[in-house]
Amino acid sequence: MTARSLISVADLTPEELRGLFALTARVKSEPERYRTRLSGKSLAMIFQKSSTRTRVSFEVGMVQLGGQGLFLSSRDLQLGRGETISDTAKVLSRYVDGIMARTFAHQTIVDLAKYATIPVINGLTDDLHPCQALADFFTLKEVFGDLMGRKLAYVGDGNNVAHSLMITAPMVGMDIAVVTPPGYEPDSAYVEMARARAVEAGTRLELSNDPAAAVSGASAVYTDVWASMGQEEEAEERLKAFGGLMVDAELMSQALPEAVFLHCLPCHRGEEVSAEVADGPQSRIFDEAENRLHAQKALLLWLMAGESL
Ligand code: CP
Ligand code: NVA
Repeated sequence: MTARSLISVADLTPEELRGLFALTARVKSEPERYRTRLSGKSLAMIFQKSSTRTRVSFEVGMVQLGGQGLFLSSRDLQLGRGETISDTAKVLSRYVDGIMARTFAHQTIVDLAKYATIPVINGLTDDLHPCQALADFFTLKEVFGDLMGRKLAYVGDGNNVAHSLMITAPMVGMDIAVVTPPGYEPDSAYVEMARARAVEAGTRLELSNDPAAAVSGASAVYTDVWASMGQEEEAEERLKAFGGLMVDAELMSQALPEAVFLHCLPCHRGEEVSAEVADGPQSRIFDEAENRLHAQKALLLWLMAGESL
């Protein structure tokens, strides 16, 4: 039997998402209450790509809950020498209590979840970054309280982070405007999914090439790198295509006066964001990074310790 996993935020009902945010707040304010809840439990952490935040926050999160995280680079696993995903999932299911994986192809994580008998958590794929979206919207809730009717402007590449934000925004009642250069729009399958969810929730999804219109009325402005992991060879071409789409003080001034700046990190100051904005008073990037830890601890408690939401 397959266990409950988190491959996309779309796997959650809006009620479960609300419950996860509430648990995240409890975990953040009273960490000692959960100190032994994952005692004796292990999380296998498979990485096909680099990571600072995801690796450290999951590993430290497991320790803070009384368990342990095992860092497994796909280069060192037999996976890197051709062992199948299904065999890897089945074998790990006999040793550990959960798997977190960062993969290139999205299908890899889907297959891990299909063949594992334990929870599988998506730690980023080429398509999605759900743990990032959990921390991002939790951060916005900390700043603004209820998010209903507010607007998030995403300025940059229509990538994994953009997809997860688009899918999640309607679940918290937020409008989302996504601005990309022509040709770098989000994947149409995720646009369709996000549009259907927005229609159902009564929120707006706008796609455009117009940053000023997108940030107008926005409570949060978000950006991400122009070349994601796996796109290193396109970096130069992307630099040209995205030139001028930097989130700078001038663009921030066109959002609401109380607007905050978010970035999943790592960021490139002077490319997608100016140093003035990244390190300025509206920036919440380090709170956002910290909240990865608290949000993922809540997720681990729900999936691996049966904590109710
Ligand atoms: N935001 C994020 O996932 O960072 P890492 O790539 O460092 O894990
Ligand atoms: N879009 C970026 C996010 C990194 C956390 C990437 O996939 O490289």
